[in-house]
Amino acid sequence: MQSNTTQIKPSSIKGFRAQILHFPVASGSPKSDYVFFIDGLLVTRNDKIEFIGDYKTNINQYDNLDVHDYSGKLLLPGFIDSHMHFPQTEMLASFGEQLLDWLTDYTFPVENKFADTAYASAIADVFLRQLYRHGTTSAMVYSSVHKGATDALFQAAQQHNMLLMAGKVCMDRNCPPFLQDTAQSAQQDSADLINSWHGKGRSHYVITPRFAPTSTEAQLAALGELAQQYPSVFIQTHLSENHNEIAWVKSLYPERKHYLDVYNHYGLVRKGAIFGHGIHLEPDEWQCLAEKGASIAFCPTSNLFLGSGLFDLATAERQNIPVMLATDVGGGTSFSMLRTLGEAYKVCQLRGNQLDPMHGLYLMTQGAALGLGLEQQIGNLNPGTDADFIILDPLFDELSALRFKHHHTPQDLIFALSMLGDDRATVATYIAGKPVYQAPVAPR
Ligand code: GUN
Ligand code: ZN
Repeated sequence: MQSNTTQIKPSSIKGFRAQILHFPVASGSPKSDYVFFIDGLLVTRNDKIEFIGDYKTNINQYDNLDVHDYSGKLLLPGFIDSHMHFPQTEMLASFGEQLLDWLTDYTFPVENKFADTAYASAIADVFLRQLYRHGTTSAMVYSSVHKGATDALFQAAQQHNMLLMAGKVCMDRNCPPFLQDTAQSAQQDSADLINSWHGKGRSHYVITPRFAPTSTEAQLAALGELAQQYPSVFIQTHLSENHNEIAWVKSLYPERKHYLDVYNHYGLVRKGAIFGHGIHLEPDEWQCLAEKGASIAFCPTSNLFLGSGLFDLATAERQNIPVMLATDVGGGTSFSMLRTLGEAYKVCQLRGNQLDPMHGLYLMTQGAALGLGLEQQIGNLNPGTDADFIILDPLFDELSALRFKHHHTPQDLIFALSMLGDDRATVATYIAGKPVYQAPVAPR
């Protein structure tokens, strides 16, 4: 006999037992607004989080739950890296230059390789593997100027059901001719990529003028037009990173009030626009960012490595500007958001402020998600959000085992991990409920 009932695929429910830490809501004081379960239970159903709570008081409501036991380990939302360059994966740690020479001598020659889509595809795989082993589950990424390379990156991320925000770099002057697009082709290629990828699965498109010096006014105007046409796409570019760069922008755009005014003039400053660096901003620029609801990606390892300067986190937060932590690979020197947090702490120390570790963790999880308007999907472990999470082992080597031998608070745990930890601490990374990285089991 034929049945009328629809066959529903049995859903996959899994439990995870661990110490669990996250920020469930928007917080004015992340130092205290976190939730911590010393013996916690996270339940996922397919690609979503279904439940979070204390293990012992809640486990009985589940019959025969398949529980992955990570007791003593730390389960966190997957990290969000808000600014990085996928073609620069292979040029991390290139010696000796500040921004403008570094771009000319190292960056542009490497980015030229991405004209070859098969090469771009191979590097996209390396790039994603590096993200996952470092516990990063979402990122906002600059591709190269090439449309094919950008397709390759989105394709690679979709294979893992990863929430990726990315865009083709646009530049039509002040770069080698082999990397130049035009105002018209930048607009057309970006529009094609929006139509191919934006809102497909978990992909988001990001309109990406590299920075003001490499775009003509015509190109910024064309991209501003595109931004107006597609209000839900993100925007990313660089802002006020280096003194020579700022002087150059002033000479190229003498009629604009300041660096940010170049972007603002073309409609590129709004909520969902993420500006990399913003180290040397004028009061009027801070105010404009605040008024428009735009965000800043704070990239401490890059800012130190390229000798760019010390970001003023305290002023940004006084002005209520959303700040997100980011690696800026390959100006940044590590894929590790833990290390990035450690360097952010040191930058704040040099500015006379102490960055509380919980505050720092917030800037790479829930705070970043809120700035991006994605807190219903990522950045926290609330039921209904996407099951993107990581498991870290605080005792990942002899030294960390010694450091954590005695009682520690969640703050102490995150702080020491930010100073001592990196990918060696990652035990497993889950994206949309599936493992995308599992540390090899150490031989006994
Ligand atoms: N400004 C313009 N392009 C870049 C880049 O690739 N990296 C950094 N750090 N700054 C930039
Ligand atoms: Zn950058």
